[in-house]
Amino acid sequence: MSGVIGVLTAGGDCPGLNAVIRSVVSRATEHHDAEVVGILNGWEGLMNGRTRPLDRDDVRGILQRGGTILGTSRMDPYVHGDGYESVRGTIERNGIESLIVIGGDGTLRTALKLSEEGLPVVGVPKTIDNDIAATDYTFGFDTALSIATEAVDRIATTAEAHNRIMLVEVMGRTKGWIATYAAIAGGADGLLIPEFPYDLDEISAMLKRRHRRGRTYSVVVVAEGVAAPRGVEVTHGIDAFGFERLGGVAYAIAPELEQRTGFETRVTVLGHLQRGGTPTAFDRVLGTRFGAAAADEALAGSSGIMVAVQSDRMVSVPLAEACEEIKGVDDDLYELAATFFS
Ligand code: F6P
Repeated sequence: MSGVIGVLTAGGDCPGLNAVIRSVVSRATEHHDAEVVGILNGWEGLMNGRTRPLDRDDVRGILQRGGTILGTSRMDPYVHGDGYESVRGTIERNGIESLIVIGGDGTLRTALKLSEEGLPVVGVPKTIDNDIAATDYTFGFDTALSIATEAVDRIATTAEAHNRIMLVEVMGRTKGWIATYAAIAGGADGLLIPEFPYDLDEISAMLKRRHRRGRTYSVVVVAEGVAAPRGVEVTHGIDAFGFERLGGVAYAIAPELEQRTGFETRVTVLGHLQRGGTPTAFDRVLGTRFGAAAADEALAGSSGIMVAVQSDRMVSVPLAEACEEIKGVDDDLYELAATFFS
């Protein structure tokens, strides 16, 4: 099955992007005898005609590397151009018959719009946030989770010597997947995520009870997307996809807890540390499975779909279904984490 496919990575970078690119290229060229055009710098490269051919030799030695050999950006043809018209030239000049788009929520929505305008598109769910619907996991999540869990472990040992509350703020945008998994894996003593409103008085009472029972410290995981305490505003503006820039809400929560509990309360914001460095083995394997499945689908002529993992099986789902909602943490998982907050 020969043909020409394009591949791009857009939006925030994420550990495992290179594993997906390597797998797309190797599967397409070695297994299908097809050609691959790499688009540089996300949608920006597609709009401005910045491309490079990719073969098996171009993707050797990149499996373990963080970042993306193609580069990425937060430019969007519907925000910074006029949709399909602003990418048509690059598509036609390169003879691209199908485009593999590796991206998160915002990028996949753009891919969906392009497919509705007639461009054959296959999506691959990328984000440390794990918030894409219709897939059990996105690649990058496991790596970010490992980093967040290690941070909780490390914060706990330094906190132990003090009668302190330590807040560890993790990424995740509007959803609390990284926070909830890190709280469970790290044995945290409290958890604040956007899916469940928090009550500072209740949390403070719980932490005071805990310290009365002999604990000398508490580690609370805070998702960056939780609301700031009433009367406090934490704003950093809006990014190119229209998403609110987040980070630092824990600094607004800390004084409230300190005042209510009487315990010194300190903050660590993990930020982009969670997106950097080498992907975990899980993300390398998941990225490799996604990449090969996407190449197969693109070269089979599928369009308007996203590859996904469901109950450990590779499946393809309509992009529209994947973009319908942003997947959040459910009651059962949240309650499981809360079992240990005492
Ligand atoms: O969506 C991934 C993510 O890392 C979020 O968790 C975070 O809120 C956002 O991207 C940060 O984006 P940027 O790198 O543009 O600051």
